[in-house]
Amino acid sequence: MPSARYVWMVVVCISWAGAQVSRTPPKPDREFTPGPPVEQPVPFNHKTHAEVGVECRDCHPIKEPGDFAGLPSVEKCMLCHQTIKADSPHVERLAEYAAKGTEPEWKRIYQVEEIVYFSHEVHHDEAGVACSECHGPVAEREVLFQERSVRMYACMSCHERYAAPNDCELCHDTH
Ligand code: HEC
Ligand code: HEC
Ligand code: HEC
Ligand code: HEC
Ligand code: HEC
Repeated sequence: MPSARYVWMVVVCISWAGAQVSRTPPKPDREFTPGPPVEQPVPFNHKTHAEVGVECRDCHPIKEPGDFAGLPSVEKCMLCHQTIKADSPHVERLAEYAAKGTEPEWKRIYQVEEIVYFSHEVHHDEAGVACSECHGPVAEREVLFQERSVRMYACMSCHERYAAPNDCELCHDTH
C-alpha cells in the first residue's frame, strides 16, 4: 500500500499539471463576424496606395526577428507627401506629426495576446502564405477592418488544412 503522504504528493502533482495544460481552451470561433471600419488618426487608404504601386513590404517590412510585420513611420510617408498632395488637410496633419517627431497612434486591428507566439516570417516568407489569407484583400480596401479571425480556432483549422502541426506548445511555448 502506498503511504498517505505518497498518495497526497501524486494528487498534488496531477492537479498542478492539470492546471498548466488543461485550462479550458477558448470557445471555437466558427461564428466570426467581421469588425466595423476602424477610424484612424489620419485616414489612410490602402487601395489608393496600392494603385500607385507601393508594395506591402515597403511599409510592413517584416524585420528581424520576423514576428511583426511592422508599421511605417511618418517619416516614410513624408518621403512622398513632402510634395504629393501637400495642401490636403490630412497630409498637413501628417506633416505636423513629422515636424513634432511624433507618430500617429494607429489603432491596432489584428493582435494576439502575449501568451501566443506568432511569426510573420515563418508564415509569409517561409511557408508562403499570402497576406490576404489572414487579412483579406487589403489592396482593395479604402478603410481597414478586421475581416479574418486570429483566434485559436482559426489558427488551428488553417494548420489542419496545411497539414501543419497543432501541438499546444507550438503556439503557447515561451519563445
Ligand atoms: C510612394 C509614395 C507614397 C507614400 C510612401 C505614401 N503615400 Fe500617401 N499618397 C500617395 C499618392 C500618390 C496619393 C494620391 C492618391 C490619389 O489620390 O490618387 C496619396 C494620398 C494620400 C492621402 C490622401 C490625401 C488627400 O487628401 O487626397 C493620405 C491621407 C495619405 N496619402 C496618407 C499617407 C500616409 C499616412 C502614408 C504613410 C503611412 C503615406 N500616405 C505614404 C503616395 C504616397
Ligand atoms: C504606404 C504605406 C502602406 C502600404 C503600401 C501598405 N500599408 Fe498596411 N498599413 C499602413 C498603415 C499606415 C496602417 C495603419 C492604418 C490602417 O489601419 O489603415 C496599416 C495597417 C495595416 C494592417 C492592419 C494592422 C493592424 O493594426 O493589425 C494590415 C493587416 C495591413 N496594413 C496590411 C497591408 C497589406 C497586405 C498591404 C499590401 C497590399 C499593405 N498593408 C500596404 C501602411 C501601409
Ligand atoms: C498566417 C496569417 C498571417 C499572414 C500570412 C500575415 N499576417 Fe499579418 N498578422 C497576423 C496576425 C495573427 C497578426 C497579429 C500579430 C500579433 O499580435 O503579434 C498580424 C498583424 C499584422 C500587422 C500589425 C502590426 C504588426 O507589426 O504585426 C500588420 C501591419 C500585418 N499583420 C501585415 C501583414 C502583411 C503586410 C502580410 C503579408 C506580407 C501579413 N501581415 C501576413 C496574421 C498574418
Ligand atoms: C492561412 C493558414 C494559417 C493560419 C491562419 C495560421 N497559420 Fe500558423 N502556420 C501555417 C503554416 C503553413 C505553417 C508552416 C508549417 C510548417 O513549417 O510545416 C505555420 C506554422 C506556424 C508555427 C510554427 C512556427 C515555427 O517557428 O516553426 C506557429 C507557432 C504558428 N504557425 C502559429 C500560428 C498562430 C498563433 C496563428 C493564429 C493567430 C496561425 N499560426 C495561423 C499556416 C497558418
Ligand atoms: C496554432 C496556434 C495554437 C495552437 C496549436 C493552440 N493554441 Fe491556444 N490559443 C491560440 C490563440 C491565437 C489564442 C488566443 C486567442 C483566443 O483566445 O482564441 C489561444 C488561447 C488559448 C487559451 C486561452 C488563454 C486565455 O487567456 O484565456 C488557452 C487556455 C489555450 N489557448 C490552450 C491551448 C491548448 C490546451 C492547446 C492544445 C490543445 C492550444 N491552446 C493550442 C493559438 C493556439
